[in-house]
Amino acid sequence: MTKACCPGSFDPVTNGHLDVVERACRIFDEVVVAVVENPSKRPLFTIEERMELLREVTAHLDGVKVSSFQGLTTEFCKQVGAHVIVKGLRAVTDFDYEMQMAQMNARMGVETAFLAARPEFTYLSSSLMKEVLALGGEIDGLVPPVVLERMREKLRGR
Ligand code: PNS
Repeated sequence: MTKACCPGSFDPVTNGHLDVVERACRIFDEVVVAVVENPSKRPLFTIEERMELLREVTAHLDGVKVSSFQGLTTEFCKQVGAHVIVKGLRAVTDFDYEMQMAQMNARMGVETAFLAARPEFTYLSSSLMKEVLALGGEIDGLVPPVVLERMREKLRGR
């Protein structure tokens, strides 16, 4: 059985993330979407909220599990038996950092497979989605509808 891990902050999950997870599902038998717990960041959504949103938007996919972890991605992969990390590559701006992480993770025993982002998602990032919505812009079609609704609720409560 082939098992992959899609790690990330997912604060919140975007349609770009979802596209990568959907495509990974067609390649691997099982995909663990893993939310990293990073205490140094001030996220919009808690870990539980991010996991709940991920579960909702991946409910239609067979073989997807949602989890969270602290520490090294490679250690988490070894714990859950995932032999490959799957990441989306959006643009050259991603390349240096992603390459650095992929090489380091390979050194620690887990390979990375990159999926080229679909052109319509190349410019998406969770940070940009939060900024645009907070400043009154519209992001319809860039994040799943349930995510947009929760983002609006969060921003109203701030
Ligand atoms: O969605 P993000 O924030 O771009 O995801 C980055 C992530 C979670 C993949 C990366 O920060 C990570 O792997 N963090 C876990 C800690 C770790 O393994 N660091 C060493 C990387 S070589």
